[in-house]
Amino acid sequence: MSLFDHAVEAAEFLRGRGFVGAEAAVVLGSGLGTFADGLSDAFAVPYADIPHWPASGIIGHAGRLVGGRVRGRRVMALSGRVHLYEGHPMTSVTFAMRVLGRLGVPVVILTNAAGGINTRFGQGALMLIDDHINLMGTNPLIGLNDERFGPRFPDMSEVYSSRLRSMVRDAAAAAGVALEHGVYLGVHGPSFETPAEIRAFRAWGADAVGMSTVPEAIVARHMGLEVLGISCITNMAAGVLPQTLNHEEVMETARRVGAAFVSLLEGTVERL
Ligand code: HPA
Repeated sequence: MSLFDHAVEAAEFLRGRGFVGAEAAVVLGSGLGTFADGLSDAFAVPYADIPHWPASGIIGHAGRLVGGRVRGRRVMALSGRVHLYEGHPMTSVTFAMRVLGRLGVPVVILTNAAGGINTRFGQGALMLIDDHINLMGTNPLIGLNDERFGPRFPDMSEVYSSRLRSMVRDAAAAAGVALEHGVYLGVHGPSFETPAEIRAFRAWGADAVGMSTVPEAIVARHMGLEVLGISCITNMAAGVLPQTLNHEEVMETARRVGAAFVSLLEGTVERL
């Protein structure tokens, strides 16, 4: 069975469970899962029940797909994702995007926890992703191209939709949420970066660094979905402050800014 057939099968399964007509899907990053709790008329399916869907083992990721409504809009929330650093192949890391594509979901909002490279950012800042740099050392589209998904050489000149980005800025202004914007640089992980790497990334024009989002954004664009990305700056990147980095701090900051993050997401969905 091909990846395409797997995606079709998973999408059919989800249609049967009521996942139809969603106007957007939101992928919730580490510690940012509370958006899913706010859905009305909610229904959920554990990832483990979905055919061919990979299981994530990391703490802070619940591992379920939630459907429901937010301010009148039908949405899907992906609570938990699999990362490249867990050892999963790229096809698994981006499988959810393939399924969303087959379900006909037009918009995907990718959220993540990220380290702040731009020294103007504060810990807990929310950053709208303008563009990305793929430094993962690989690409999710490597291998034979299946034209049923998209073209061999997809354009990446506007991965993060400027139309949707202006909606996020409006939502931030209306909700009184401070919003930064900048370039997200994706690394493979799982080790955090060294201070020298962070200085290099800053010179390349990166404002934040993280271990997700880039593969999903590439695959979503391959299928022609409209993409948005929002980072929660859970910590300043290595060497910016005289302190070490740890995953607990990432989770704690994400939880602390949870309410602002959720109101930004809800206001964005409302404007779709
Ligand atoms: N580096 C990479 N990924 C991250 C970080 C970081 O500092 N913080 C949260 N995710």
